[in-house]
Amino acid sequence: MKAYVIGDYINTKQLAPVDRPDPTPGPGEVLMKVRATGPNARDFQIWTTGTAMGPPPSERVVCADNAGEVLAVGEGVTNVKPGDRISTIHYNQWIDGPWDFEMRHIDHGQTIDGFMQEKAIVSAEAVVKLPENISFEDASTLPSAGLTAWNAVVATGQVKAGETVVTIGTGGVSVFAMQWAKMLGARVIVTSSSDEKLAKMKELGANDVINYRTHPEWSKQVMELTGGRGAEAVINNVGTSEMDQCLESCASCGRVMFLGHSPVSSDREARAMPPLLRLPLLIIKNIDIRGVIVGSRKMYEDLINAVSKHNIKPIIDRVYDFDQANEAVAYMASTDKIGKVVIRVN
Ligand SMILES: NC(=O)c1ccc[n+]([C@@H]2O[C@H](COP(=O)([O-])OP(=O)(O)OC[C@H]3O[C@@H](n4cnc5c(N)ncnc54)[C@H](OP(=O)(O)O)[C@@H]3O)[C@@H](O)[C@H]2O)c1
Repeated sequence: MKAYVIGDYINTKQLAPVDRPDPTPGPGEVLMKVRATGPNARDFQIWTTGTAMGPPPSERVVCADNAGEVLAVGEGVTNVKPGDRISTIHYNQWIDGPWDFEMRHIDHGQTIDGFMQEKAIVSAEAVVKLPENISFEDASTLPSAGLTAWNAVVATGQVKAGETVVTIGTGGVSVFAMQWAKMLGARVIVTSSSDEKLAKMKELGANDVINYRTHPEWSKQVMELTGGRGAEAVINNVGTSEMDQCLESCASCGRVMFLGHSPVSSDREARAMPPLLRLPLLIIKNIDIRGVIVGSRKMYEDLINAVSKHNIKPIIDRVYDFDQANEAVAYMASTDKIGKVVIRVN
């Protein structure tokens, strides 16, 4: 079967296509025929700069996003059978309950192979069945950006109808955050570097939009738009450079959901981290800052059920064929896209 591995990406700017023998599922494992995957900023960071886990080996198959069909199951697997449509979380030990730091050691696309391959071995415990009304391409966008935004807005963020939510940028995580917040009946303010993208976000449901390039102190616009009250939840998927604006944008007892730690698009220099002059706002506004890491299988089940019930369509900018994987990665890393980029595998 064909797979794409990190190879010498740093120097070649190309993932390396390789041939691999078909894998066989062991006890508790499932063999998935991968139908769709796609690159995320997070995957890109893993194979270019490495993470706290250190750089993965060059033979690692990339990408956490996935959707596919069960081809075979290993000994003891009873929750799925050949032919079932499935998708899996990428930190595959986080089934339910709170996150444990030790779970970081098993991560598809980082410490174990990801899904830019025709067949993949997954843990039966970590898979979720896909309803018929969610296509493989749509489902494949959900395990990383979709689930992280779900955790930030729904599971941990506890956004309520009538609250105001701010999302930064128009990438995978932030567009999903808008979709989940709208599903809950919240008002959403979206920022972007591009007026063209902001116009598109309005068409997609944003209530209000702010260009963060023409308004670097965009919290002032948030305060104006909310009559001086501020937003109940601010989704910070960019990192420390935007933290001061996030804190300034918060309403009393608001929360900042912190889930990005670096500038995301290559052409955008992150502003230097400002001195945390705004930290006293934590006290006077009684603000919570909460770190968010993707989500559990239980959260993923809740997400899939909601997408199916409300017929929510992930915003997919482009779909590429498997042999165009490197073009898909280059487009994902560009500043042009809105939402997600998908690779149709087979
Ligand atoms: N905590 C977790 O578990 C977790 C999971 C997944 C992802 N993440 C992190 O979340 C971040 C976003 O991921 P993604 O997949 O959504 O990325 P993405 O699709 O590349 O989107 C990022 C968007 O952020 C905006 N942006 C880029 N640089 C910016 C800057 N300096 N200041 C303000 N906005 C900026 C851009 O919007 P415009 O083009 O509209 O300006 C860009 O489209 C990444 O850092 C990723 O590592 C964390």
